[in-house]
Amino acid sequence: MVFHLRPVTSGLMATALLLMTALHALDAHAQSAILEGERFHPEQASHGMVASSHTLATDIARDVMADGGNAVDGAVVAGFVLAVVQPRSGNIGGGGFMLISDENSDDVVAIDYRETAPAAATETMFQNEAGNAVSDWSRYTHRASGVPGTVAGLALALDAYGTLSLAEAMEPAIRLAEDGFKVPPRFAAGLDEARDRLSAWESTRQVFFKEDGSRYRAGDTFRQPDLAATLTRIAEHGPREFYAGKTAELLVAEMERNDGLITMDDMAGYEPQIREPIHGTYRGHDIYAMSPPSSGGVHIVQMLNMLENDDIAALGHNSASTLHLMAESMKRAYADRSKFLGDTDFVDVPLSGLTAKAYATHLRDQIDPQHATPSDDIGPDDPWPYESGETTHYSIADDNGLMVSNTYTINFSYGSGIVVDGAGFLLNNEMDDFSAKPGEPNAYGLIGGEANKIEPGKRMLSSMTPTIVKRDGKNLLATGTPGGSRIITTTLQVVMNVIDHGMNIQSAVSAPRIHHQWLPDEIAIEAGISPDTIDRLEAKGHRIEPTRAMGAAQSVMVDAGLFLGGTDPRRSTSKAAGW
Ligand code: DON
Repeated sequence: MVFHLRPVTSGLMATALLLMTALHALDAHAQSAILEGERFHPEQASHGMVASSHTLATDIARDVMADGGNAVDGAVVAGFVLAVVQPRSGNIGGGGFMLISDENSDDVVAIDYRETAPAAATETMFQNEAGNAVSDWSRYTHRASGVPGTVAGLALALDAYGTLSLAEAMEPAIRLAEDGFKVPPRFAAGLDEARDRLSAWESTRQVFFKEDGSRYRAGDTFRQPDLAATLTRIAEHGPREFYAGKTAELLVAEMERNDGLITMDDMAGYEPQIREPIHGTYRGHDIYAMSPPSSGGVHIVQMLNMLENDDIAALGHNSASTLHLMAESMKRAYADRSKFLGDTDFVDVPLSGLTAKAYATHLRDQIDPQHATPSDDIGPDDPWPYESGETTHYSIADDNGLMVSNTYTINFSYGSGIVVDGAGFLLNNEMDDFSAKPGEPNAYGLIGGEANKIEPGKRMLSSMTPTIVKRDGKNLLATGTPGGSRIITTTLQVVMNVIDHGMNIQSAVSAPRIHHQWLPDEIAIEAGISPDTIDRLEAKGHRIEPTRAMGAAQSVMVDAGLFLGGTDPRRSTSKAAGW
């Protein structure tokens, strides 16, 4: 992959560039005049855009890029900053996926830094003697953690595609951990909601409560000296420090004291992978999204393929007819997920079959436009034969032709709730994303099968769906979201709102959303869908379940030379900013 950085100009070239900038500004002016009339206003800029769930991550990543860094530099800086300022999901103790598109070379790559099961993990490790799955074991113990991938993944991205050194990219995060930052109301509320879980372990109490045991409140300064020391060691010695140095030793000692499974060998053996993303098309656009061990890319492409058979624009945004088709498509995709999806390093997943247009048409033909098919009558289908062969998301685009879409997580808010003593970071509880037992739902009600059983070294199935949409070879949209099982359907709706309904990126992100995941057989519906529409859906046989806000789809778009940011109003700390 070749990245073209902003050129150093002089003489004739500078004059040409000035002229081009003036034309570009005219273009941008005409564009913003149109956008002025919109109900939800996207952030706009001329050189690039960041949208993340935290003001500090957005501002610092934007400044790094405005100073000459590229979008991958911004993404790595944001990843480390979020690990400090948003520890409920930002992390170094978890894992995730990063999609990078370079429109100059036409490459789109996926960096897989998902956690892996330790070598001592077994298929039945979360079942009791009676053979029943015990969810507390896969969620709130040291055995709940997979081997973390974030440090290796971010370092790989930076090394391969960035321009900063690791120490430079980590400097803002180290400063924030050392000096502290002012607690926003959402941060204090998050700690308060999780206070029982966060007081269960002494190492966690030391980080998330004040010395006298009292709670942090909005406006307080929050410092993390142990985390600052850990980040400093990594910045000085490189990512191997996390996997084979003092940080690994602290993590393994934490495991040994508490019946955990991760060993020094597990840590030293962790490798992030560069994978080919899933590619599909939708009404003339190229869709790139995360490949296994995430189910996100397969199923967003599968659902779009089903929906492409109908004129969604004519049926209208969030009309009963459109929502019916969406819910029916979602059910069928999630039914297939339960059987076929798992880590392709361990199991064969019929990727071509699941993402084939012909298979989607076959599934669409089973949808009755007037009546909901009960989920009991739907099961994993028979994909076309293989022919030839509290998570957080941020999106970034720059004027070097780079676009980055990154989702990473420790699974639950604050992961397992266990801080590595002396190292200051939370451990993930990602092992719960495996099937503890075939047919047993995980925390998000997702059923998994044989393909997602626990095996040593295997990556647990994910729903994270960092997505990049291109049109005519150009980067158009980067989006993705947290939300467990709802990640894939939330991302789907942002893509449809842009492509089918022609919304600007802020409207596309803000619009009310729905979700169906096959089981339970219900449409989860956010506030903002009209009661008349709900009546019509019920008349078709759908069960409707009103729900709290779903997801936080931080998104960026490039349109007519303008960089647009759509930040999700469902998070009070969200921010999009450009330069
Ligand atoms: O990888 C997955 O699919 C889950 N561990 C994501 C968890 C999540 O999104 C929680 N945040 N809301």
